[in-house]
Amino acid sequence: MSSSDHVTVVDVAPRDGLQNEATPIPLETKVALVDRLSAAGFRTIEVTSFVSPSAVPQLADGAEVMARVRRAPGVRYSVLTPNLRGFEAARAARADGIVVFGAASETFSQQNIRCGIAESVDRYAPVIAAARAAGIHVRGTVSCAWGCPYEGGISPSAVAWLARAFHQLGVDELSIADTIGVGTPEGMAEVLDAVLADVPLARVNVHLHDTQGRALDNIVACVAVGVRSFDASTGGVGGCPFAPGATGNVATEAVLERLAAEGCSTGIDLAAVRETGRWLRAQLGRG
Ligand code: HMG
Ligand code: MG
Repeated sequence: MSSSDHVTVVDVAPRDGLQNEATPIPLETKVALVDRLSAAGFRTIEVTSFVSPSAVPQLADGAEVMARVRRAPGVRYSVLTPNLRGFEAARAARADGIVVFGAASETFSQQNIRCGIAESVDRYAPVIAAARAAGIHVRGTVSCAWGCPYEGGISPSAVAWLARAFHQLGVDELSIADTIGVGTPEGMAEVLDAVLADVPLARVNVHLHDTQGRALDNIVACVAVGVRSFDASTGGVGGCPFAPGATGNVATEAVLERLAAEGCSTGIDLAAVRETGRWLRAQLGRG
C-alpha cells in the first residue's frame, strides 16, 4: 500500500450509532455530535433517518437535528429514507445525500422495511429517480451481505442481485453491509467479487459491524480488493433494532488507526475523533 492511497471514512454514529439507544438522547447532544464530526474532517456524515417513528423512536427528531447542525462547506449530510415520504422529508431538511436500504435476506427485508426484496426495489425506484432529479447523492445499501440474523448464511449472488438492481436504478454509491458482523476476510473477497461483476469498484463502500471482532481485518481484506470507502461509528456505538444480537459498528478510532498502519490516508483528525468518542460514550453513560 503506498502512502498516497486515500480512503474515505463515513461516520455513521449519529444515525446507526444512536438509533438503537433505548434512552432518549437530547437534541443538543445529537447536533453537537454531528458538528464535532464535521470539525474532525469527515466529508460525509450519516445524520439521521426519516423513517417511521414507531420503527425507530430515537431518530424521530431528525428534522430538528438537520435544521440545527452547522453546515460545514464540502460536507455531505446524509439521511436514510425508506420511501417517498422519507425522501420528501429529506429534501425539506436540505439533505445532501439519501440512503435507500434493502437487504439480501428476504426475512430481514420484511422485518426492517416491511416488504420483500423485489418489492423494495419497486418502492425505491421512484425515490432514487426523485433524488437524482433533485441533484441529491444516492447510496443504496445491501444489508445482510455476509449473513442474516434470521436466515443465517446468504449467498453472494443474492447480494450481487440487489447491488445490480440499485446500480441499474442509478444510485451513486453501493454500501455492502455486514449487519451482524459475521464476515471473514475470505468472505469479504468472495462477496465483493460477486458484486463487482456488475458494479464499478469506485462506487462500492463497505459497512461493517464488529460483533466478532474481525471488522478491522475485514477492512484490510477489502482494501486489498481495492475498496476505498468504509463506514464506521465514532465510539463504536450502534446496532440495528431489527438485527438481534448485532453490536456496534466498527469504531472509527480503530479504523483510522488501522488504515494509517496500512499506509492509507483519510484526512481525518484522529485525536479529535478519539476525544469525540470519549465524549459520546460519556453522554451515553458508557464512560
Ligand atoms: P409500514 O408499516 O409498511 O409502512 O412500514 P406504512 O406506510 O404502513 O406506515 C407505517 C407508519 O409509519 C404510519 O404511521 C406511517 O405514517 C409512518 P401510523 O399511521 O402507524 O402512525 N411512516 C412514516 N413516518 C415518518 N417517515 C416516513 C414514514 N413512512 C411511513 N418516511 C416503513 C414501512 C419502511 C415505513 C417502516 O418499516 C420503517 O420506517 N422502517 C425503518 C427501519 C429502520 O430504520 N431500520 C434501521 C435502519 S437500517 C440499518 O440499520 C442497516 C444499515 O445500518 C446497514 C446494515 O448495517 O445492514 C443501514
Ligand atoms: Mg448498520
